[in-house]
Amino acid sequence: MGEIAKIRHLTDIRPIDYHSVNELFTCRSAAHGDAVLKRCNTSDAEFAAELNTLREYGGRRFCRVLEYDSDNKIMLLERVTPGTRLKAEPSLERRLDAFASLFQGLHIEPKNAAPYPSCADRICRAADFLLNRSDCRGLHGYAYALRAKELCLSLSERYPKKVLLHGDLHFDNILKNSAGGYTIIDPHGVIGDPIFDVPRYILNEFWDYRGTFPAVIGGLSRRLNISEDVLRQGFFIEAVLSTSWDIEDGNFKNTDDIAFAASLLEG
Ligand SMILES: Nc1ncnc2c1ncn2[C@@H]1O[C@H](COP(=O)(O)OP(=O)(O)O)[C@@H](O)[C@H]1O
Ligand SMILES: [Mg+2]
Repeated sequence: MGEIAKIRHLTDIRPIDYHSVNELFTCRSAAHGDAVLKRCNTSDAEFAAELNTLREYGGRRFCRVLEYDSDNKIMLLERVTPGTRLKAEPSLERRLDAFASLFQGLHIEPKNAAPYPSCADRICRAADFLLNRSDCRGLHGYAYALRAKELCLSLSERYPKKVLLHGDLHFDNILKNSAGGYTIIDPHGVIGDPIFDVPRYILNEFWDYRGTFPAVIGGLSRRLNISEDVLRQGFFIEAVLSTSWDIEDGNFKNTDDIAFAASLLEG
């Protein structure tokens, strides 16, 4: 904890129970009051992208950064209270309403795009990773990866904006705030069209609430005025991206998510 001393006067430091590569603590700051301390075990580039995204959004629907220490990849964040994750909201309609109201009009142009990867590059890199894995070819990984690249290219042509995306906007990263609304945390920070901030939300709904999946696509399509086809294509790309990251992290299980997403593309 020595490095944490660089962030001023913290007391009552308690670990947050959350499965993460990072270390998270609630704490009390003499200067700012209730806060969350996040020590990132991500790369320097990933830390810079997260920090810069939070600072560019400057508290607008995102939580504020109170202090930071880039050398040690630590951030002191405004604590969102009660901080209940959107995932815990039992009503699908209310979850989708909350997501849609945060999403609409959310995105800003980055002041400086340099710290952020492009969304298309990130997808192509993940697809290339699958293309180079001989053990994925037997599971149709090769065809899936090529399809993800194709779809990414066609969606990027159709939706060409270059704004600052959250990049990981699922319901564990959306917390209930003291005003009764929701606040966004934990951005990856990537550049692309707003459309690319929807599929990660859909993927986590699919993992946790499989039975309501068709209602998620339909409900988001109506609320965001994006066609169901486009949402299904985004969902497929996201399944490829997340499976590729799992393999990279040594957690490869199977390509079932991608296969399910692929089956929806034909329907
Ligand atoms: N600013 C915050 N206010 C309240 N709780 C937070 C805050 N930041 C993180 N948390 C809690 O810690 C959990 C993990 O934080 P997160 O930044 O999403 O970590 P990770 O990068 O590992 O996903 C969140 O789901 C939330 O419960
Ligand atoms: Mg998170």
